[in-house]
Amino acid sequence: MAPNAVITGWGMYAPPRVMTNDDLAKLVDTSDEWIVSRTGIRERRIAGEGETTTSLSVNAARDALAVAGMDPSQLDLVIVATCSPDYPLPATSVTVATALGATHAAGFDLQAACSGFLYGLATGSSFIRSGMYRNVLVIGVEVLSRFIDWTDRNTCVLFGDGAGAVLLQASDQAGGLIGFNLYSDGTGYEGIIVPAGGSVCPASPKTTAEGQHFIRMAGREVYKYATRQLADSAVAALRDAGIGVADVDQFVFHQANLRIIENVQKALSIPEEKTYINIEKYGNTSAASVPMALAEAVAAGRIKQGDKILMVAFGAGYTAGAAVVEWTADPARAFLAPGEQTRLGKPRVAEPEMAVAG
Ligand code: ACO
Repeated sequence: MAPNAVITGWGMYAPPRVMTNDDLAKLVDTSDEWIVSRTGIRERRIAGEGETTTSLSVNAARDALAVAGMDPSQLDLVIVATCSPDYPLPATSVTVATALGATHAAGFDLQAACSGFLYGLATGSSFIRSGMYRNVLVIGVEVLSRFIDWTDRNTCVLFGDGAGAVLLQASDQAGGLIGFNLYSDGTGYEGIIVPAGGSVCPASPKTTAEGQHFIRMAGREVYKYATRQLADSAVAALRDAGIGVADVDQFVFHQANLRIIENVQKALSIPEEKTYINIEKYGNTSAASVPMALAEAVAAGRIKQGDKILMVAFGAGYTAGAAVVEWTADPARAFLAPGEQTRLGKPRVAEPEMAVAG
C-alpha cells in the first residue's frame, strides 16, 4: 500500500522589521483607516538588509526540522514555493538545502504565486505516495518587498515578507494529507504581473526606468476571482477527501484580504472561530501566508491531533490550491510560542524593530 504523507514538523519566520500603515502613509497617499477597512492589514514585516529568500527559508525550515527532530542530512527533497526567489537562476531551493546541511536532498523551486505552498504540498505528497522519497521539506517564502513599487498605493499596502515550512514524512499511520485541489486559468494572467524581466520583455534600462520589474495588479478583478475560486477549490478538496465543510475543525486561508476571507466564510457557512486569521500582523505574504498561518494556529492551540484542517489559497496566474490534512502530530512538539520559535532547538530572540520605508 502507498505510504501516507503526514506533517511531522512546521515552522515560520517573520523578519523583525515592522512597517505599519502609518509608515506607509508617509510614502503614498493612503491611511491606516483605508488599509484596515479594505484589507484588515495593520502592519507587515519587511526583510532587512542582508536578509534574503534563502535566509528567511532557512529560519522557517530549521523550526520545522527541530519540531520533527530530524537531522537535515535525512532530507530527500527540498521544495521552495516562491515568486520572489534570490535569483531567476539558480533555484533558491538549492541554496536553502546547502545552508541547512541537507547534503543528500534534491531541490527545485515551484512558482504558482500565492498558491505555491499548496502546489508544493501536493507535489511533496505525490513524491511520498509514489514511494520515491520519504522526507520532503516544503517551504513557502517571499521577499516581495523587493518587487514592490513603493510609490504605487494599489500594491505597496498589501504585501509583506515571511516564510513558512512543513516537513512531510512517509508513514503507515492513517491521516496526513487526504485531499487536494489544484487549479489554474491563464486567461487572467495580466491581473497580477511583473511585466519585465522575462522572455516577453527582457530587463533593460527602459524597463527599469519605467518600473516594469515591479508587481502590477488589477485589484478589483483579482478580488472577484479570489472570492469565487477560494470557495470552489475548498469544496473540491473536501470532496476529494470525502468530507464536508462541517467536518473541518480549522480553516487556514491565504491571508490576502480579510474581506475576501469573510466572504468565503459566509458563502460556505464557516463559523468564525474555525478560521485562523493573522493578516493584521503580516499582510499578504503570498506563498508564505498559509504555512505561516498554519504554524501560528498550531502554536495557538487551535489544532489538535485528529483534527481536519483545510488550507486554501489563490494567486497570480490565476492559480488556486487547496489541501485537506488530518493532523497527526503532537502540537506540543512545537514547544515555543509564535515569535519565539526554535532555532535548531534554541529559542530565537528577535524583538520587532521599528519601521522604516522599503
Ligand atoms: N489608499 C487609499 N486609497 C486607495 C488605495 C490606498 N492604498 N488603493 C486604492 N485606493 C483608491 C483607489 O484609487 C480608488 O479610488 P477612486 O474610487 O477614486 O478610483 C478607491 O480607493 C477604491 O479602489 P478599489 O480598487 O475599488 O478598492 P477595493 O475596495 O477593491 O480594494 C484592494 C482594493 C484592497 C486591492 C482589493 O481590490 C483587493 O484586495 N484585491 C485583491 C488583491 C489580492 O488579494 N491580491 C492577491 C494576489 S497577489 C499574488 O498572487 C502575488
